[in-house]
Amino acid sequence: MSRSAHPAGPRHADVLPEGHYTAPADDLNALDPKVWAHTVGRDADGVVTVGGIAVTQLAEEYGTPAYILDEADFRDRARAWRTAFGTDADVFYAGKAFLSRAVVRWLDEEGLNLDVCSGGELATALSAGMPAERIAFHGNNKSPEEIERAVRAGVGRIVLDSFQEIVRVAHIAESLGKRQPVQIRITVGVEAHTHEFIATAHEDQKFGIPLAGGQAAEAVRRALQLDGLDVIGIHSHIGSQIFDMSGFEVAAHRVVGLLKDVRDEHGVELAEIDLGGGLGIAYTSDDDPREPHEIAKALSEIVTRECEGARLRTPRISVEPGRAIVGPTAFTLYEVGTVKPLEGLRTYVSVDGGMSDNIRTALYDAEYSVALASRTSDAEPMLVRVVGKHCESGDIVVKDAFLPGDLAPGDLITVPATGAYCRSMASNYNHAMRPPVVAVRDGAARVIVRRETEEDLLRLDVG
Ligand code: LLP
Repeated sequence: MSRSAHPAGPRHADVLPEGHYTAPADDLNALDPKVWAHTVGRDADGVVTVGGIAVTQLAEEYGTPAYILDEADFRDRARAWRTAFGTDADVFYAGKAFLSRAVVRWLDEEGLNLDVCSGGELATALSAGMPAERIAFHGNNKSPEEIERAVRAGVGRIVLDSFQEIVRVAHIAESLGKRQPVQIRITVGVEAHTHEFIATAHEDQKFGIPLAGGQAAEAVRRALQLDGLDVIGIHSHIGSQIFDMSGFEVAAHRVVGLLKDVRDEHGVELAEIDLGGGLGIAYTSDDDPREPHEIAKALSEIVTRECEGARLRTPRISVEPGRAIVGPTAFTLYEVGTVKPLEGLRTYVSVDGGMSDNIRTALYDAEYSVALASRTSDAEPMLVRVVGKHCESGDIVVKDAFLPGDLAPGDLITVPATGAYCRSMASNYNHAMRPPVVAVRDGAARVIVRRETEEDLLRLDVG
């Protein structure tokens, strides 16, 4: 399609309607390494490749939409976190970001532990052979059945989230003749600078036990008295997609304050502090995430300093990155179906997926990048909104971005940094079938989660 086929879409930053897009990159064919998986590039024909395989070939073999995951990149990032934190700390990958049995095996091989937050995630972890003692079990409303399963399996820690759960877990562990290692999740009252729905340390929300008013101290007091529990530490997770370390600093200060109070009252020095996950990644070139070694250094310095001040032995630190490991390792591959220029506004590009495979834009106003992947183009940039095929006007994948003005049906486009919270939050809205996850490594691709079929949908519908 020639440029003149899209006469209406504004093409230049100075004539753009209000929005929070950034100006078009100098070269729309360029792939900013910040937002793309490590092995992504373009071949001699201009086609995007990952792990040495062209996306055109992946589309042909596995169809679109599809999540394409760079296994080498996943392993590199997992290892970078592991190495950065060293042997005095533990890294628990947060399975909620994306979990599959292949991922569990990679984590196991790379020496990471695993955070699960439901019976389903626990089942996936155990079925892929993750040693139970390297699993942490989270959740604000674990069912008695889930708790029993976790205790029986011998999970390394259960993170207690309420007064009722303290009693519930103690009771179940005791009835099984076990003493369950636990951490107590507290809310430290930090306002994380992120979207309201993914901030978790302010007090007015469902997770954790507030430090305020002595509630967290009371939780520790009660837990220490119960034979079924071995209280190993305190947990704090302040939120997600955070770039600024100051929130962690305040959290560490307050958690250490609690450890000190516990020592003073009970003569017990709790051995661990978990500072949760939440480290941000680059969704667009405007984001500047920190490297794992910088984060590890900062957190360890903060905790050590706070403990010295409180005359406490420095506890073992653990962290739970999800997005920071898997987020950048995958992109979503879509085929363009229709291209609709709207006079004086922008051009709507409809793809064969949408909010069912990426709900984050609709839910959090998340920003994403996008690139033409099946070819390069020298056409002028046009302002686009990449939308899905669902019956919903909020069905937006990329709110504001630029693509070449000659974009046409049949072109493949890719949205990077969709490894975290896209497949794991995917739905069957409009009876969409959830896309597969295809792992690529060293010139070979394999499906690690297969595409859903109409049969899958109909099997659940028992008439
Ligand atoms: N630890 C705990 C206790 C958590 O609740 C979470 C995320 C993590 C670790 C991992 O956070 P991460 O490093 O992946 O940011 N669906 C949202 C994010 C909600 C995260 C919930 N908990 C999103 O798409 O941004």
